Amino acid sequence: MIEIAKASDIDAVVEIERRANMTPWSHQMLSESLSNNHGYQFFLLRRSNEQISAYLIALEVLDEVNLLHIAVDPSFQSQGIARRLMQYWLSRLNSEVKTVWLEVRESNEIAQSLYQSCGFQKVDERKKYYRIPDSIERETALIYCLKIKN
Ligand SMILES: CC(C)(COP(=O)(O)OP(=O)(O)OC[C@H]1O[C@@H](n2cnc3c(N)ncnc32)[C@H](O)[C@@H]1OP(=O)(O)O)[C@@H](O)C(=O)NCCC(=O)NCCS
Repeated sequence: MIEIAKASDIDAVVEIERRANMTPWSHQMLSESLSNNHGYQFFLLRRSNEQISAYLIALEVLDEVNLLHIAVDPSFQSQGIARRLMQYWLSRLNSEVKTVWLEVRESNEIAQSLYQSCGFQKVDERKKYYRIPDSIERETALIYCLKIKN
């Protein structure tokens, strides 16, 4: 079941975030995305036992929407869950939306495969964009775009 996240879900999301993400979003960042009513979207997917298995956060501004984050609990990855959540979200975008944007680490080939399979195309890159934990180096961000309409 896919639904809009609630404040009471944040602790469970933080726990998944710690296990799934190289640079996890903090409790505060997640809570702010939820409480900010200016265009933020925060969906999560629950298993039949109510356990959260994935979530997606996006920000809509006028006719553009930016996918800020998507993650799947490592115990349930590679089962088509991220694609299902992406397709659900994309099919419910506001009818005003013309373009969907996202950024992804150059090294994150799994996420890039997911985005490409959802129709996104790489259009640009930003050098030294992402912090690398325990390193002074920074990683390139690839910018992907999905044109919905002109
Ligand atoms: C990226 C992520 C969300 C994908 O979630 P997922 O539920 O495992 O993805 P899906 O099972 O829906 O697979 C979608 C596509 O991703 C790719 N993919 C998924 N698992 C893969 C793996 N183990 N190896 C290679 N490609 C893989 C495939 O292209 C797959 O399509 P296919 O099944 O037709 O081959 C998940 O790996 C994750 O949470 N990663 C950590 C957080 C993250 O990096 N988020 C993205 C930030 S930009």
